[in-house]
Amino acid sequence: MVIAIDGPGGVGKSTVSERVAAALGLPHLDTGSTYRAAGMLALRRRAELDDPRVVADAIEDVDIAIDEGVVTVDGVDVTEQLRGDEVTAASSTVAAYPEVRARIVELQRRWVREHGGSAVVEGRDIGTVVFPGALVKVFLTARPEVRAARRSGDAEAARKTQEQIAAELAARDHADSTRSASPLRPADDAVIIDTSDLDIDDVVGEILGIVDRRERERHHAQ
Ligand code: DC
Repeated sequence: MVIAIDGPGGVGKSTVSERVAAALGLPHLDTGSTYRAAGMLALRRRAELDDPRVVADAIEDVDIAIDEGVVTVDGVDVTEQLRGDEVTAASSTVAAYPEVRARIVELQRRWVREHGGSAVVEGRDIGTVVFPGALVKVFLTARPEVRAARRSGDAEAARKTQEQIAAELAARDHADSTRSASPLRPADDAVIIDTSDLDIDDVVGEILGIVDRRERERHHAQ
């Protein structure tokens, strides 16, 4: 059973996904970290970021692994390095390249297979592309000012103004939604939850309710 939780940055996806996974006893995969690892590798290898082929080569033959939120590249823990501004911007750039996505999506599907086939998977295209057959698809949204306020609580946003954070989120939303390869958008059968006026417990509760309903429907259909 895959539970796909998609949506833009700053909606609280990671917190909600971790909580849903813990409640269901399932592993949790944050696919943003896989694109961040790809962006970091491209930067580290001084690849031309505007050349998809060169970037794809830079991430070839490296072992990107994720275990309980810790990301390693060829066995070295890079988790901390993935949150910096430069890597954030690079991840958005390289995530637009189909050559890169093909490799990273394969890694994500393998991860779920190797964890027994059931997981809570969060990202941008999980319900549309990576796991189109997911039992539950949720798309989280929130008003831009709410997302900027939530982001300002993150460690990496500490020295930024609210305006700066809002502008960066808007730029990344634009890049993620307008790219031709797997753009950010809800799947046709996703449940859209506007989290602007909800707290985390409400959102988690709503998703657990959807999981419960979908499992019962599946059970009845068998
Ligand atoms: O969720 P995040 O901020 O860690 O994601 C980093 C970048 O990766 C973001 O610009 C969008 C991209 N991404 C993607 O294209 N597809 C996903 N499934 C997850 C993230």
